[in-house]
Parts: sequence; C-alpha cells; structure tokens
Amino acid sequence: MLTLQIILGSIRQGRGGVSVARWFEEAARQDGRFNVEFVDLLELNLPMMDEPNHPRLAQYTHEHTRRFSELISRGDAYVFVSSEYNFGIPGALKNALDYLALEWAGKPMSVFSYGGISGAIRAAEDLRRTAVALNMVPLNHNIVAPLYTQQCDDEGRFSPNPVQADAAQDVLNALSEWGEMLRNRRQARH
Ligand SMILES: Cc1cc2nc3c(=O)[nH]c(=O)nc-3n(C[C@H](O)[C@H](O)[C@H](O)COP(=O)(O)O)c2cc1C
Repeated sequence: MLTLQIILGSIRQGRGGVSVARWFEEAARQDGRFNVEFVDLLELNLPMMDEPNHPRLAQYTHEHTRRFSELISRGDAYVFVSSEYNFGIPGALKNALDYLALEWAGKPMSVFSYGGISGAIRAAEDLRRTAVALNMVPLNHNIVAPLYTQQCDDEGRFSPNPVQADAAQDVLNALSEWGEMLRNRRQARH
C-alpha cells in the first residue's frame, strides 16, 4: 500500500486548516488505497531550520531533524493543506520543506488550498515552485476551497461542495497512479 501523508501547514492558534485537512483525511481513509498519515506541523514543533549542512547531504546534527527525516521518508505521496499568508505559503510550512531534500524527491504532490476569495491559489503556486526545487512531482490535480469558513459548521466540520468532492477523488486517483509509478522508479534505482 502507498503511504499518503497529509501535511497541514498552518500552526497558529485558532487555525482553520484542521477543518479542511480532517475532511480530506477522512476521504483518503475511506478510499481504501492508501496508508494515510496525518502530519501536523504544530505537533512536530520544528525550530527554525538550524542544520549547519545543506539538507541534500543528509548529515543531520539534530534529533528533531532525524525524526522528521524518518517521518517524511515513509511517504510515497503528499497532499499539502495550505492557507495563504500574504500571498505566500505559511512560514512553518516553508520551514518544514527546507529542512529536508532527498526525502521529498521523486514523489508526487498535490495541494489542498483554502482561504479567502482566491482560495489561496497564489500560495498553491508558490508551494508548487518549492516542490519543483525539491524534485517532487507536482500534479495537475488539486483541491481549492475559497471562503472555506462558509462551509464549516459550529464544530468546525467542513462540508465539501460537489466540485471539491470530485476534485478530492481526482487527487486520490492521480496520487495512486503516480505514487505507484514513482515508487517503482525509486525502487529500481536503489
Ligand atoms: C498572517 C495572515 C496573512 C493572511 N494573508 C492572506 C492572503 O494573502 N490571502 C488570503 O486569501 N487570505 C489571507 N489570510 C486569511 C487566511 O486565508 C485565513 O485566516 C485562513 O483561515 C488561514 O488559515 P489558518 O486559519 O489555517 O491559519 C491571512 C491570514 C493571516 C493570519
């Protein structure tokens, strides 16, 4: 089974990202094709990137980096759940991406962006550019939730509209196909 990691990029108090991320996590679990892992950067509590060596050397000096490296290495596919802070991705998410290099490489990624009227699509583009730098494979299948708070109830449960529900299925199909293909490629190279 492919391991799909859902990475929630916002860590601030009162963050809304939990609502959309948990809905997608449930959809991914129900799909049945993935071993789903929820990666919460708030729980990981990474300091600002503090390694002395370039991450592509994988010569980590801190225990928090080694733990994060082990975690992300397990992933065969990633969905980044990202809001938009001042037209870019949240700092905690950029920090987490910068920590590692080879761990991300050669794996497919999609974005679930949520926010105001724009649905954080500028941040999603920002994120895809960083993903290319890290040799991930950004897919043309993504989910967008503009004005997402209008789709959350009082308990913070997110209800997708039909377009988002279909997009989630497309994302899971694409991640399954590309995830399998790229995992075979990685295994053949080792
Ligand atoms: C520091 C900050 C900057 C923001 N900048 C944007 C922005 O550029 N575009 C946008 O659509 N929403 C912006 N927002 C509103 C966010 O979309 C909204 O607060 C969303 O809930 C943030 O995700 P989070 O609650 O998971 O942190 C900003 C919010 C914060 C806190």
